[in-house]
Order: sequence, then C-alpha cells, then structure tokens
Amino acid sequence: MSNPLRLGVAGLGTVGTGVVKIVQRHGDLLASRCGRPVEITAVSARSRSKDRGVDLSTYAWEDDPMALAARDDVDVFVELMGGENGPALDAATKALQDGRHVVSANKAMLARHGQKLALAAEKSGVSLRFEAAVAGGIPVVKALTEGLAGNQITRVMGVMNGTCNYILTEMERTGRAYGDVLTEAQQLGYAEADPTFDVGGFDAAQKLALLAATAFGSQVDYDGLDIEGIDRVNLADIEHASELGYRIKLLGVANNSSDGVDARMKPCLVPENSAIGKLEGVTNMIVIEGDSIGQVVLSGPGAGEGPTASAVLGDITDIARGLNIPAFGVPADRLKPAKRAAASPKAAYYLRFLLTDAPGALARVATVLGEGGISIDRMRQVQHAGPQAPVLIVTHDTVRSTLDKVLQVIADLDVCLAPPVAIRIEDV
Ligand SMILES: NC(=O)c1ccc[n+]([C@@H]2O[C@H](COP(=O)([O-])OP(=O)(O)OC[C@H]3O[C@@H](n4cnc5c(N)ncnc54)[C@H](OP(=O)(O)O)[C@@H]3O)[C@@H](O)[C@H]2O)c1
Repeated sequence: MSNPLRLGVAGLGTVGTGVVKIVQRHGDLLASRCGRPVEITAVSARSRSKDRGVDLSTYAWEDDPMALAARDDVDVFVELMGGENGPALDAATKALQDGRHVVSANKAMLARHGQKLALAAEKSGVSLRFEAAVAGGIPVVKALTEGLAGNQITRVMGVMNGTCNYILTEMERTGRAYGDVLTEAQQLGYAEADPTFDVGGFDAAQKLALLAATAFGSQVDYDGLDIEGIDRVNLADIEHASELGYRIKLLGVANNSSDGVDARMKPCLVPENSAIGKLEGVTNMIVIEGDSIGQVVLSGPGAGEGPTASAVLGDITDIARGLNIPAFGVPADRLKPAKRAAASPKAAYYLRFLLTDAPGALARVATVLGEGGISIDRMRQVQHAGPQAPVLIVTHDTVRSTLDKVLQVIADLDVCLAPPVAIRIEDV
C-alpha cells in the first residue's frame, strides 16, 4: 500500500469531530477504497481543553490554523471552522499556495472567494473541494461535476435549508404561526439563537450561488441572487395554498437561458404532489435538469455531524485516489463571467387580496387584471365573517414586472383593504 494521505483538520465542532470519528471508525474501509491509508496528523481549534468526545491524543495540536496549514506532515488542509473571511480564508489560501489540497464545508467563504481559491489551487496543481458546503450530505457537487458532465444543465433548484423547510411544514401541519414554530425549532436545536442567516434565506442563497456556478460553469455570483426569506410567510397563505393544491417552500432556483442566469432564493408555491411539494421536515432536496438526462432528484440530510462529515470524506477519498477535478467542474480561469438575466421566466402566480365585501369589488379587481393582460386561471372567495373578504386568484403564466404594475393599480382601488400578496408558482 502506498503512502498515507495525511489530514490536518482545522475546526473540531459539529463537522470536525464528525470527520475525526469517521476516520477513526472506518480506517480500514477508507484504506481499501483509496488504496492507501487516510490519517489525521494534526488538528486545530480555539480551545485545547474542551472535551469533544473523541480521542485526539495521537494528533499534533496547533492553536493557530495558519500553522496547521503550513505543516510539512499535512497533505490536505480540512477547513471546518467557518467564517467568510479571517482565519478560514487566510489558512485555506496559505495551504493552497504552499501546494496542499483543501477540503472545506464553508459556504460563506466559498460563495465570496471560491473562484480566487480555485485559481490558487490550480496554480499549485492541487484540489479545492467543497461538497459539504452545498446541501450537507447530498453529493450534488459530485453529481454535477462528474455524473452529469455530459449535459448542458438548464435548471438547478431545490430546498437547501432544513430549518426553513421544518418551519414551513410545521406551520402547515399544526396551524401554528411562524413565531411559535420558530421558537420550537430553536428549542429542538434546528434553528440558531439568531435565526436570521437561515430564515432570511442567506444560508440557502450561498449554497445556490455555488450550485449555479458549478451547474453552468460560470463565476460565483452571490450578489446577483434575488433573496427573500420565510419570515414574512403568512399562515393564511400556507392554508390557502394547501386548499388550492400547493405547498409553500423556500425554493432556490437557478435558470440558465440565452438571456443569462436567473437565480433566486424565495418562498414559492409548488404542486403538493411534486417531489419538492412532498418534502417534509429538515430534509433537503436538489433537482437538476439537463438536456440529455431530463430531471434528476437528489434528497437527503442537508446538515448535521454525520451527513456533513460524510460529504467531507467523499472529497478526501477522491484526493487520496489521485483525482483532481476542478472545484467548479471547469478550470477556474475558464469560468464564464456571470451574466444575469434581465427577468425571470414567465410563471403563474398565487394572488391574495383582501377586499371590501360589497357587490362589484371582485369584478373591479378582475377587470384591472384583464386590462393589464393578466389572465385568470382560478379564482375563489374564502369563507369569511365580517366586512372583509379574502379572495384568492391563480393566474396564467405572466411576467413579474407586468404583474407588479397591475397589483399597484389594484392596491390603490378603494375596495382593496390591504397590500395584495403575490407568490410565484414554480413549475417543478
Ligand atoms: N453543522 C452543520 O450541519 C454544517 C453543515 C454544512 C456545512 N457546515 C459548515 O461547516 C463549517 C463548520 O461548522 P460547524 O457546525 O462544525 O461549526 P462549529 O460547531 O461552530 O465548530 C467550529 C470549530 O471551529 C473552531 N474555530 C473557530 N474559529 C477558530 C479559529 N480562529 N482558530 C481555530 N479554530 C477555530 C472552533 O473551535 P472551538 O471548538 O475551540 O470553539 C470549533 O471547533 C462551517 O463553515 C459551516 O457553515 C456545517
């Protein structure tokens, strides 16, 4: 058997200890799959005295991740600290420049600096890999860069944040409001004390930016994403959507056309009987569409110790086998500049209006929609008591900018009692 592949693991939190456990538990399995042993030689974290529930006694310790990244007995710098900049970026850059491979789960760093890091890797002839940064345990980067490499990818989409999917499915299942369910998710450990990064859609958007770059061979364009979280999703809309045969999901969609890439992370309606519509709880799902394959659906755990460490080990195994695949599927200096589409493709929309319960109110709304070129597929008035009548409309496919102009006219009508709600219905 040839020389061992020597790992330096920076970060011994949830994911880092998960990686240590797999390397310790599956030493023989990894060695037989890779044709060489995979060993940890050194580790780094902030606190040396913390009990992490794993035996670290045989590994060298570095307080400073930069020192770990520079060690001669490290072949792969495994970055599991997190953070967009700072020690993670500095140490990963150092490791690559010095000719060490880097495996990272850090979506924040990669969404901002992925291309620069990939260029550094290629200059040194080593690998930069980030499977664990996108949808945790689901091997989607591998699917795009290897298994589906013969396809022109036209669309990639999915549910990429388990916290948000848990909250939305619990709201629907229990009829409880967003705030209640969020508090429960925090108590269960599904949501952070400060949930903004998850519920605001930013965590999922970083993953989508990496996915879109990998799918379309374009530069990572996090700033080009249209991002909206789930914090304004109303229980009434979840219930009404359900009555109409839809579910509300925080859906990331990146669509590639001759017009450019349209990428957004927003609450959407999807048919309840679609694979994404049926997705419950914290599970993630990614749907990839290619010209030869049609549609591929991957689902599984998007976070957590075991699943995320599993993805890290997948990347390490490739490196141990001598595979050097460009981080984004094509060499970093050949990634196309990100071209943003001027508009999203046409779609149907779910509309909710709160109207005066008076004869002719609904007719006036329908007339404005018709005059604005928005045709109605379905319409229903919700049972109500009192003078305010909720009305639901599903449109035929339309352009969002046209719809927005028409909704502004409706909002100004005296029969319209609250700003209209419009949610895209994604064709999944
Ligand atoms: N958790 C998941 O399910 C998951 C899923 C996908 C991707 N990720 C990504 O994986 C990475 C790690 O996440 P995690 O959940 O494992 O984080 P975590 O539990 O907070 O662990 C972070 C680790 O990094 C260490 N660390 C932080 N700053 C450091 C520094 N300046 N020098 C040395 N060590 C430092 C910490 O040391 P101490 O322990 O001593 O404080 C800790 O061991 C992040 O990029 C995250 O986005 C996580």
